[in-house]
Amino acid sequence: MDITASAIAKYEALAPSLPRFDSNGGATRRKHGGFWYPEHLLAPTLAARDTFAARPTDVILATMPKAGTTWLKALAFAVTRRRLHAPDDPRHPLLGASPHDLVPFLHTIYEEHRAVPAGPRLDAMPAPRVLAVHAPFSALPASVSVSKCRVVYLCRDPKDAVVSFWHYLRKITPAGPSSVGPISQAVDQCCDGVWPFGPVWDHMAEYWRASVERPEEVMFLRYEDLKLDGAGTVARLAAFLGCPFSDEEAARGVPEAVVALCSMDRLRNVHANRGGVHGVGFSVFNNSAFFRKGEVGDWKDHMTPEMARRLDNVVEEKLRGYGISL
Ligand code: A3P
Repeated sequence: MDITASAIAKYEALAPSLPRFDSNGGATRRKHGGFWYPEHLLAPTLAARDTFAARPTDVILATMPKAGTTWLKALAFAVTRRRLHAPDDPRHPLLGASPHDLVPFLHTIYEEHRAVPAGPRLDAMPAPRVLAVHAPFSALPASVSVSKCRVVYLCRDPKDAVVSFWHYLRKITPAGPSSVGPISQAVDQCCDGVWPFGPVWDHMAEYWRASVERPEEVMFLRYEDLKLDGAGTVARLAAFLGCPFSDEEAARGVPEAVVALCSMDRLRNVHANRGGVHGVGFSVFNNSAFFRKGEVGDWKDHMTPEMARRLDNVVEEKLRGYGISL
């Protein structure tokens, strides 16, 4: 058995012995290293941690589910590939394929290992390889720190992320929306820390700490900042990734063109995002499920003030002393 397959088999064998949480409509979660993994993503995530060899030119995009992963994938792809594909090119790859196909999850590549070996597939990706993870910072491959490749973390107000995940589950679960509990149950799970890849506060705190300790290697972004100042945030992202916009590009409005290309309205209407799917096995997803409203403060339409206060208080309390403003 090759090294990747044996790492996957090792963690698949370990999973049933780990603490378990069952959620209505969602995947069973298992606790490892202080974090709750959807059971089917535990083995591929930890196998990647043990065997993935990062290169200095790699870009790792890290998020909690529903923090804006799809958006960040599109933006990072558009920024890093802009010399090959101008953002205003009507044949741009983002207008023909899902951001999830152009920027795969590292865990998906490991999940698909049986059908398409991860090593050769990763080796064949052109530099800079842009890959995504939901893994906590403490579960990133050691080669990420050693190689000093770039890590970009995108965080989002947990209230909006909880609402987004709840809608998403209702859309994707084969048992139908009514099998997913009420939003109050989702809030409870987030407050109790049993959220997928949670606790949310520990996920944020680990990446925050890393961004403070190693600002050249780890960048901490907020969904809300992207909404507020797309072009400015994209310019900061490009500079961090070592491909800053030149004065000439800025004068031509290239950062704004990247933002326009990756906007919700543009991407949700792309054929591949309306009807396509990505992933394998348990994790086959309709691409359309990743585009909903994309608003800041949507929680107000779904949570009672008490639910919102409770979640805010728990997160604030846990993050006190870190200097993270949400
Ligand atoms: P909502 O459900 O609040 O609308 P992820 O990509 O991590 O799964 O996150 C999905 C969330 O990001 C959804 O939030 C989705 O609508 C939003 N989103 C997807 N594409 C976006 C884009 N181009 N701009 C802004 N938000 C986007």
